[in-house]
Amino acid sequence: MNIATIVLSAGKGTRMNSDIPKVLHKVLGKEIILWSKDSVKNFKDKFFVIGHKQELVEKYISGDAEIVIQEEQLGTGHALSVVLNDEKFLSKEYDYLLVLPGDVPLIEEKALSGLVEKVVSNQAAVGFIVASVSKPFGYGRVIIDEDKNVIKIVEEKDASDEEKKINIINSGIYCFDYKFALENILELDTDNKQNEVYLTDLIGLASSKKQKILVEESSEVSIMGINSMDQLHNLEKEAREHVIKSHVDNGVYFQDPSTSYIDKSVKIGTGTKILANTHLLGDTTIGENCIIGPNSMITDSNVGEGSTVLYSVISESATQEEVQVGPYAHLRPGSNLGKKVKVGAFAETKKSNIGDGSKVPHLAYVGDGDLGKNVNFSAGSITVNYDGENKHKTTIEDGAFIGSDVMLVAPVTIGEGAYIGAGSVITKDVPSKALGVERSEQKNIEGYSDRKKKKKEDQ
Ligand code: UD1
Ligand code: CA
Repeated sequence: MNIATIVLSAGKGTRMNSDIPKVLHKVLGKEIILWSKDSVKNFKDKFFVIGHKQELVEKYISGDAEIVIQEEQLGTGHALSVVLNDEKFLSKEYDYLLVLPGDVPLIEEKALSGLVEKVVSNQAAVGFIVASVSKPFGYGRVIIDEDKNVIKIVEEKDASDEEKKINIINSGIYCFDYKFALENILELDTDNKQNEVYLTDLIGLASSKKQKILVEESSEVSIMGINSMDQLHNLEKEAREHVIKSHVDNGVYFQDPSTSYIDKSVKIGTGTKILANTHLLGDTTIGENCIIGPNSMITDSNVGEGSTVLYSVISESATQEEVQVGPYAHLRPGSNLGKKVKVGAFAETKKSNIGDGSKVPHLAYVGDGDLGKNVNFSAGSITVNYDGENKHKTTIEDGAFIGSDVMLVAPVTIGEGAYIGAGSVITKDVPSKALGVERSEQKNIEGYSDRKKKKKEDQ
């Protein structure tokens, strides 16, 4: 059985009132077209119809599916006919067509494959997904007679007041017998309020020709379409809950889902707890049994299993297992933390490797640093990595101890097991096991406070 999957995404999205093509708006940080791509990823022969601002849209598809250009967007029926006449499509023979709009991001693969199976096994001319909704405004209404036969689909703009009251809506997702579609598509006209070629009219044609029509019912959320900014916001809310629910089903705990913002692309290991006000964004992976939050934002990063991230921000960085980040730490891009590393309160790291067991516990900056294992980088110390023009590297070998309030003026190397005395400004390399100290000798001036007091009394 050869099935072609066709995603219609050539439209302008006029009702969005935006310069961005509709399918490039984002839901949970991911372009709508990529959600559609995900829904159909396990189907074989895929065709995406694009048109409006195709130069911006095509790069999201290339490689994974054939692109078919609909130069002029004359309606959903026209979009399908463009595919049926495309030579890439004609190079293979198909038995059935799965057709879906590119603006329905939450549809799941199993709903699509369920529809195809049902149409194939019943040898129907067409089957389509419907939903019963509380606010049908904007959708095509499904007209069904007393004997439960589908008669046709009427678009919002063409519907009578009576028809507008119908709350069974067309999802825009169909599976057609290819021969039926091919034989009937030329009969579609533009005799409607929008002067468009409606794909929905194929249902009316199937009914008038006494062809077998099936309907599959789906949840309202899974078939929500995006035509306006308002719908985008509503869908984003639903999508957030949908994504969080899928993590909950995988054994992730959410303290307060209403304040958790988890992008679609994020992966979270079982047993992890996501505490309130946490944003996990972009290409982020959190290992198993971590505690993330409250109040943390992690973007495009990997956090190893058993780690804690408390009141902190992490971007484009990676950690191994059992690290402790925060409270109030900032891992900037290129920070790589080994096992059991601690980067604590008011510490910032950037483009640095921090080896297993090392600690930057508080009030520190490590930039362009290469720290070995079990290094202690004490409070108030920093790598002085920038000379006003260039960035330089600081190397600290295994087991070195950097005392408090130390300036390591890069480029500089601190040898294995070396100590740096507190308050030092280190501009030269310190050999392994040495003590590097740079400060003047302490003087104690005896009796100072008594003399000071007396001076005041004498005035
Ligand atoms: C369409 C259906 C409607 C259904 C709704 C579900 C028609 C006539 N109406 O309405 O019954 O309830 O979807 O969401 O089909 N597109 C093209 N080329 C075109 C026109 C549209 O590729 O010439 C694409 C759009 O980019 C979009 C999809 O087809 O992704 C649907 O078009 P849209 O204009 O959003 O149709 P709706 O009014 O939502
Ligand atoms: Ca739509």
